[in-house]
Amino acid sequence: EINEIAVVGSKFMLEKAIDADIGQNGLQLKPSDNFILKLHDQSDGGKKVEMILQKPLDREKEETVSLLLTAVDGGEPQRSGTMLIHITVLDANDNAPVFTQSIYKASIKENAVNGTLITQVSATDADKGSNGEVSYVIGNSMTSTSKLFAITEEGNIILNGQVDYEKAKMYEIDIEATDRGGLSDSTKVVIEISDINDNSPVIQIISISESIVENCPSDTVVAIMNVNDPDAEENGKVHCIISKNIPFAISSS
Ligand SMILES: *[C@@H]1O[C@H](CO)[C@@H](O)[C@H](O)[C@H]1NC(C)=O
Repeated sequence: EINEIAVVGSKFMLEKAIDADIGQNGLQLKPSDNFILKLHDQSDGGKKVEMILQKPLDREKEETVSLLLTAVDGGEPQRSGTMLIHITVLDANDNAPVFTQSIYKASIKENAVNGTLITQVSATDADKGSNGEVSYVIGNSMTSTSKLFAITEEGNIILNGQVDYEKAKMYEIDIEATDRGGLSDSTKVVIEISDINDNSPVIQIISISESIVENCPSDTVVAIMNVNDPDAEENGKVHCIISKNIPFAISSS
């Protein structure tokens, strides 16, 4: 078992060799991408063989490595022995979580109830076991915005209060995904609030004449008023009518 973060030059001792007659050329390791062999003479006449890492391992690419060590002696007839070396590459937390999108967009109606599922974010981590377990938090936790939304362990973003289109038409929240080893990624969620017709028009009298003379000319301004509806577009358009059969009309200015 060798950890994937083992550095180049790390040495791994193999069983004491083998046959005193074997020289450096009589030993072969295949394939030889990751390791080279080094032979040491021992004082007792035996030989010690070391495998030396020359190219880093990466569990996310190769979880096991199988090597064949062959020893050939110089005798006549030539004799050889082989040994199979199975290496399990152990995981290190060498990958950070990565969000599937750098920005997520969602939209809810302003009358959405507390607890409404808004959208789901997701980050994946190539590492194994707890090194690959991701948890989510809402980033801007100092602001009131972050309290208005909550995120579950599964990355579901939930409405945690009440929104009002007339107060805010859009929210932007930062989400951070962290693995158990502390590596993280962040993403942004833009939540648009859509309008519903939840406001009635309000009529406000700005000025009005207490009385008018009976011979006052047509088109004399008698009162000025303001009509307002804070809803958006069609929901906010107002249409004014005045009683029929009275000597007054309204016009827009
Ligand atoms: C929304 O629901 C959450 C969880 O049930 C609760 O803690 C919170 O007080 C609610 N907020 C409002 C404004 O009702």
